Amino acid sequence: MMQTTSFSQFNIPSIVRESPPPATTIHRRKTTLSRRLSLVLAVASPATSPSRHQVTHSMPPEKLEIFKSLEPWVSENVLPLRKPVEKCWQPIEFLPDPSQGPEQFEEEVRALRQRVLGLSDEYFVMLVGNMLTEDALPTYQTVINTWDGVRDETGSSPCPWAIWTRAWTAEENRHGDLLRTYLYLSGRVDMLMVEKTLQYLIGAGIDIGLENNPYLGYVYASFQERATCSSHGNMARLAIKGGDPMLARICGTIAADEKRHEHVYTRIVEKLLEVDPNATMLAIAHMMKKKIIMPMHLIYDGQDPNIFEHFSAIGERQGIYTSRHYAEILEFFITRWKLEKLEGLIGEARRAQDYVCGLPPRVRKLESRAKKIETRQVKFSWIFNKQVSA
Ligand SMILES: [Fe+2]
Ligand SMILES: [Fe+2]
Repeated sequence: MMQTTSFSQFNIPSIVRESPPPATTIHRRKTTLSRRLSLVLAVASPATSPSRHQVTHSMPPEKLEIFKSLEPWVSENVLPLRKPVEKCWQPIEFLPDPSQGPEQFEEEVRALRQRVLGLSDEYFVMLVGNMLTEDALPTYQTVINTWDGVRDETGSSPCPWAIWTRAWTAEENRHGDLLRTYLYLSGRVDMLMVEKTLQYLIGAGIDIGLENNPYLGYVYASFQERATCSSHGNMARLAIKGGDPMLARICGTIAADEKRHEHVYTRIVEKLLEVDPNATMLAIAHMMKKKIIMPMHLIYDGQDPNIFEHFSAIGERQGIYTSRHYAEILEFFITRWKLEKLEGLIGEARRAQDYVCGLPPRVRKLESRAKKIETRQVKFSWIFNKQVSA
């Protein structure tokens, strides 16, 4: 079926088959968080407002068997990529240690506060954003456990898909803990506003269009892990420049976790391409068509209805997560999954392959346009009464 679908700033033919008739379609009401998107955000933010229809259970039931049959493969190839708890780092290893007595502890806190003096307010806006993204972890575990065929049915399911998800969640949980404590000790941010924002964010949830569909879910997870790896890595580089090597170590250590997670999800998609290339190719195209939406796209601090746009604009300008990164990640996966060389695809999947492989130049075009965005003055409630330009 060929039809013309608006893809951001240009029209391209839609070659992706409509999802099979969903079991349920939820019509979500417009919220006050719906907002106009600027050019730069076309690739780094919600492609659609939260008012769009939510498609559910788009994976045909017969595909459940595929995920069932892959369980031994998950046990052999995915579960070994968990890091044993005893070999994992823990937040306290990077933080002032209260067990060393009050004087030593106070000295370490003073040193921390001294180190962050060279970092800008904009840097802290990005650090808060990254922390909130990590700390909204309950939302992500919830979403993964909506995916048909791989969800944790009980909370302690012995299904290997579920074992991985719990281990992943437990690993991820350290990221937000560490960043939040560091921010708290730094004295550079208004923790009350940060905490309120987190409560709003978790309460809002996420609207990324995964349709309970593990094909879509694992494509999204691959992309998102690579994006967070890149973002934390860029924060580490800026921390070194700003004179805080400990914060650089923290961001770098978190980025290394994300890298391992990316490896896991990428291998899962690779395996799906092997056992079910047509459906997997369609899923990749489907996600690219609707765009990979940042997990904190429904963020709100109780004050700024455009906080996500403002945050994203700073991320673009600081080079933390930009439209260029989006294009690079897309190009990486086209190569990593050997999408151009995939053979034997039929019908819609063949056209989906052409669509995805032809996307990077279009996204690059958006990148060049994104740079023309004007900057403006924005006050972030997370930063103490200071003006932050964006
Ligand atoms: Fe993380
Ligand atoms: Fe991760």
